[in-house]
Amino acid sequence: MCGIVGYTGHRQAYPVILKGLKRLEYRGYDSSGVALLKDGVLNIYKKKGKVAELEESMIGKNIDAHIGIGHTRWATHGEPSDRNAHPHSSASGKLAMIHNGIIENYAQIKQELINKGYSFSSDTDTEVLLNFIEDIHKNNGSTLEEAVRIALKRVIGAYCILLIEQDNPDTIIAARKGSPLVIGIGKGEHFLASDASPIIEYTKEVVYVNDYELAIVKPDELILKNLGNEKITPYITKLDMELAAIEKGGYDHFMIKEIFEQPSTIHDCLRGRLDAKEGQIRMSGIDHNIEQLANASRIMIVACGTSWHAGLVAEYIIEELCRIPVEVEYASEFRYRNPIIHKGDVIIAISQSGETADTLVALEKAKENGAFIFGVVNAVGSSIARISHAGAYTHAGPEIGVASTKAFTGQLAVLMMMALNIAKHKGTITMDRYQTLVSELEAVPEKVSEILKGTEQIKAIAEKYKDASDFLFLGRGYNFPVALEGALKLKEISYIHAEGYPAAEMKHGPIALVDETLPVVFIATKDLYHEKVVSNMQEIKARKGKIISIVTQGDTHSPSLSNDYFAIPLADELIAPILTVIPLQLLSYYVGIAKGIDVDKPRNLAKSVTVE
Ligand code: M6R
Repeated sequence: MCGIVGYTGHRQAYPVILKGLKRLEYRGYDSSGVALLKDGVLNIYKKKGKVAELEESMIGKNIDAHIGIGHTRWATHGEPSDRNAHPHSSASGKLAMIHNGIIENYAQIKQELINKGYSFSSDTDTEVLLNFIEDIHKNNGSTLEEAVRIALKRVIGAYCILLIEQDNPDTIIAARKGSPLVIGIGKGEHFLASDASPIIEYTKEVVYVNDYELAIVKPDELILKNLGNEKITPYITKLDMELAAIEKGGYDHFMIKEIFEQPSTIHDCLRGRLDAKEGQIRMSGIDHNIEQLANASRIMIVACGTSWHAGLVAEYIIEELCRIPVEVEYASEFRYRNPIIHKGDVIIAISQSGETADTLVALEKAKENGAFIFGVVNAVGSSIARISHAGAYTHAGPEIGVASTKAFTGQLAVLMMMALNIAKHKGTITMDRYQTLVSELEAVPEKVSEILKGTEQIKAIAEKYKDASDFLFLGRGYNFPVALEGALKLKEISYIHAEGYPAAEMKHGPIALVDETLPVVFIATKDLYHEKVVSNMQEIKARKGKIISIVTQGDTHSPSLSNDYFAIPLADELIAPILTVIPLQLLSYYVGIAKGIDVDKPRNLAKSVTVE
């Protein structure tokens, strides 16, 4: 939610910031803006819409500056508009600030400032915080740094802020709580951003700023302090990421690039961990904590969106293989209800970004209650990865398209390996079954490649059904969560209403929707439930619904019941979800494209949801 970039150093700041904003646009694209400071003159430029619109509006403007901050917004307080766009300027015009997060008690602070005579030119909580800081700075005789500290102690909510001051020609003040901040260390220059993507081409040395820390950043100096004004030694990490990973590399969209990357991202996820010949899986996060995991009396999985769907698949797999009860919770529900958490309970947190606010807060709560937190995270060094006691990265590389694809299959691969390791340790799996599943898992990248060869066939199906107003996705067992995921994907990037259901549950309500206009996508691969799914297909056919099925190669019966079908290679039913989801990702991509939607940045969404 919102991307922020800052630069101070010897380069021109604007090109660095603009490029950075384009890379962070996945975090929000309602409006964007920059503040540039040179010779005591603070220029703020902002524009409703995507970063490209800001760029166009900047032609002919004075962009000469070596320090600046920039923001791309996902609106929370106030509609997307020029005046609500960041950076905001303080009442005196001397300060400019950008913010990612939500100030929950802004209304109260705003009222206090109004009573003091302040007026506001936007509807944002950011402008309130900025003027609150300025008010303390002016009236308490505090330095700006002190004023920020005092103000932040009063603030309830989440923030990452960057501030520049007219009279301070080379300093950016930054602070975070709940929203991410990375600082890149260059020679005589520093870069600040919500993630490493704007920084990677300039330096690989970064500092991840922690909650309640404040940074005073000059070209040659980085001072890190806590809110108690004590200095902290910055911990410098080396980025393990290449520039090519965050560029489109010849594809039209990040989403299709990321779908096509899956043979290699799944391979990377398995590499060095799974050895089918030896019949071994080695994962340090699991191996070092195997007693804790295997002896858990129950496992709770906490996640949102697509990651929650991966959690549902994991529930089925862990219960089947490890015989440990599993509960899967939406993080947003878990954090606000009063869940029963015992010391030693295992919580698995699943998150692509590692920054999802609901998941993060749910984990903090569980951790306070003594739970053991295991993170299944994609973004290396992210907040969830850092607050987990142990974890396993999915190694899918940066996922930029708003619709999650390769992260999901990476999550499934990690969770499968995790279940296999625990089951082996507990003795709840036979060695034969273990070996079969390890070999099946190893074969997944090749099978995904084979599925991707059928892309044109899916594209044709997408074009045929693109004008439908509703879709139903049905699956049973391990493929029920895949039906949910197929429906979510389609909604996100085609704006078509879609629902996912367990195939058998359909007759308890959704069947009323079925007529000759309704496309019903069945995941009907060969597994334990296959015959039952086929009966459900008959029920839809009898009501003239249009059946699109994902079937196993060689099956002729299910295709004969379908209007359209797509065949995938045979796989064990526990492994199947990693494969069955691929045609559904392609289907949603091509429906979105056929409808002319910007699939990488669909309306109202953001990649990293750092607000509740
Ligand atoms: O980064 P996370 O995995 O924690 O994100 C969770 C959801 O916000 C995310 O999966 C969302 O549903 C995606 N847009 C789905 O494509």
